[in-house]
Amino acid sequence: MKSIVILISGRGSNMRTLLDADLPAFRVAVIGNRPSAEGLAYARERGLPTAVIDHRTHPVREDFDAALADEIESHQPDLVVLAGFMRILGEAFVRRFAGRLLNIHPSLLPAYPGMHTHARALADGVKIHGCTVHFVTPSLDCGPIVIQAAVPVLGGDTEDSLAARVLTQEHLIYPQAVRWFLEDRLTLTADGRVLLDGESTSTAVLVAPLA
Ligand code: GRF
Repeated sequence: MKSIVILISGRGSNMRTLLDADLPAFRVAVIGNRPSAEGLAYARERGLPTAVIDHRTHPVREDFDAALADEIESHQPDLVVLAGFMRILGEAFVRRFAGRLLNIHPSLLPAYPGMHTHARALADGVKIHGCTVHFVTPSLDCGPIVIQAAVPVLGGDTEDSLAARVLTQEHLIYPQAVRWFLEDRLTLTADGRVLLDGESTSTAVLVAPLA
């Protein structure tokens, strides 16, 4: 059985979706960087192994990354899933977990890396927005794309309404990407290409209906 470590910072809705999805069985541990993260309380209630590596007690980034990496390694994960994990991870960390580190980002990357993606999309007047699951590379919110989902931006949208529409799609594409990984169908090549069943994943794009 494969082992997954999920990293969270807050609410943990993507984590919950992964825990509840109909996926091949896996062992799981949840690690947070904020002791008060709602998602950590939920994971504890479910009886899952949890740990906190508090970034405030590791003010030097490299120290935080090293402590986090050591905790992750203690679970011997096949896959590390960033699910609303709001810390930037350094190059050494990312290299240590290369090819087994996935992130979900609430935009159609490479558009809108970083924070406040929905507000920026609204301010720009884009008509299509969405979310992306990608393998993590040392650059922020950058890295080989596994799957994306697009949603329409509607006339009366607010940041919250757009975020909610995108989140619904996040909850579809993250379990899909993790399923591919658990089924040994998803790989990252040494030269940074994503392969699904040994092929380029150019077809692995989900576009939500315009309604
Ligand atoms: C999601 O929108 C995710 O894409 C972003 O942070 C949010 C986390 O939500 N990185 P949750 O904690 O999974 O509910």
